Amino acid sequence: MIRWRCHERFGLMPPGAPAGGIAVVIDVLRASTTMITALAQGASRIVPVADVDEARRLAATIAPPPLLGGERGGVRIPGFDLGNSPLEYTPDRVAGRTVVITTTNGTAALHASRDATEIVVGAIVNRAAVAETVRRLAVTSGRVHLVCAGTDGAVSAEDVLAAGAILDAASADARGDELDEAAREALAFFRRVAAHDDVPARLVEEFHRSPGGANLVELGMAIDLPVAAAIDSWAVVPRLDRASGSLI
Ligand code: MLT
Repeated sequence: MIRWRCHERFGLMPPGAPAGGIAVVIDVLRASTTMITALAQGASRIVPVADVDEARRLAATIAPPPLLGGERGGVRIPGFDLGNSPLEYTPDRVAGRTVVITTTNGTAALHASRDATEIVVGAIVNRAAVAETVRRLAVTSGRVHLVCAGTDGAVSAEDVLAAGAILDAASADARGDELDEAAREALAFFRRVAAHDDVPARLVEEFHRSPGGANLVELGMAIDLPVAAAIDSWAVVPRLDRASGSLI
């Protein structure tokens, strides 16, 4: 039996809350989606870093030289190889490479989850694979924290929808798991959207209404919204390797 806890934005999570449990860090637009895509497209590992200067410093110590990726204000950081669009992380650019990445909210949510026994990265694009991985890992640890990054301190619908999508794929309610109120609401929200034809298109509509989606539209990056709404397009679940500090 899994006890699911949903944190609608990581800033609301009580300090140390994920200790002893599994954290699923979710930043659909776009850090999670991009990290999953990078590994699925052949990157050898991803090193998430909270700060831009730290990312540059760390990259200088890694051989062969890694790619630097990420964003501030949604746009590529000066001198970095890649921004934070999943569409940039193509096999010709990332296969076999280490990617050092820093983003505004996503890498901060990963950092906030550091007390968890296991940290994995979830999004809509890998929700079924996350549900399966979490079921397997939860054999020894029955508590799962769905940690939504949100956007600049605000709850973002796309992250809550991904939490609901993971709970749906895990059949959390049907299997007698315990869901806290936020997890029940996330599941109900996802199922309301999933009850329509063309679920990815409905998800994109919801993204347009969220602060994270609105930011991207304003920056001319609306093309990333349908990519992030493509349910189960990848089976990769990035998992933090503590020894190297990398997602593999
Ligand atoms: C973040 O970590 O804040 C986001 O992924 C933002 C973005 O992609 O622009």
